[in-house]
Amino acid sequence: MTDLARLVREIAAEMAGIPERGEVASYIAPLAAVDPSRFGLCVVTAEGEVHLAGDALEPFSIQSISKVFALTQALGKVGEALWQRVGREPSGTAFNSIVQLEREQGIPRNPFINAGALVVADVNLAGHAPRVAIGELLRFVRHLADDDGIAIDEPVARAEQATGFRNIALANYMKAFGNIRHPPELTLGVYFHQCAIAMNCLQLAMAGRYLMHGGLLQPGGARIVSSRRARRINALMLTCGHYDASGDFAFRVGLPGKSGVGGGILAIAPGRASIAVWSPGLNANGNSQIGTLALERLAEATGWSVF
Ligand code: DON
Repeated sequence: MTDLARLVREIAAEMAGIPERGEVASYIAPLAAVDPSRFGLCVVTAEGEVHLAGDALEPFSIQSISKVFALTQALGKVGEALWQRVGREPSGTAFNSIVQLEREQGIPRNPFINAGALVVADVNLAGHAPRVAIGELLRFVRHLADDDGIAIDEPVARAEQATGFRNIALANYMKAFGNIRHPPELTLGVYFHQCAIAMNCLQLAMAGRYLMHGGLLQPGGARIVSSRRARRINALMLTCGHYDASGDFAFRVGLPGKSGVGGGILAIAPGRASIAVWSPGLNANGNSQIGTLALERLAEATGWSVF
């Protein structure tokens, strides 16, 4: 496994030397201020080895990666009934698109586009105050990562709220179809705060372990979800985790992955590894440019692939 340690370091060194790093998200002020030269990588293997490189201990805004944990939480609450309110098909549209909602009666294509994540947030709200639902999600993520230090970045949450006009429109539009059950501002409160969870690559890769271990926190450890549910969440990450670039990510990396506009990506090699990468510059589809390249290198060198 020394080879993997070296590979992780080599990838970080290669990524550090690439000048073209994409553009940091500009619509949320605290994200726009992040230095695009940052790069972190963490690989946690099935055997429990941890390999870190670069800024792997630097917290960043996980943004849409939170949708994986929120989906797991919602499935735990309502089980398969969730699929009456949200689909399981790639959208082929941008993460914040509204176009399909009118034709498809307010049922979002999948839980990872913003519209779908808002329905998931609405399920997780379950008649409580937003801080109850978000507190529950935060406890869940801390448990998965085995780290009580994970917290919400409040200035990011406030900036989401202040600039989230598309999300506000999506929630209200779905409310008109009856697919948002709470007052939209409460559902949006949950969504904006989950996006503002800050984690580092180590915490994120640790939190993804249940998806590599067929639903177990670790081999012989607590069951988080059934093995079937873990497979299905991985399937959704593969087909929908990068929005209209999901096909390209599957082609280049070949692993289930979920991106966020903070520049993070969580990727899962089932039975092999949970991987978190962070590089804040985004490509045209809003996914980490260098992060994707790093995962492509890692998958190529290790042979990890679901294909
Ligand atoms: O909904 C938004 O605008 C963001 N706060 C989260 C979006 C996100 O991370 C999309 N993923 N690449």
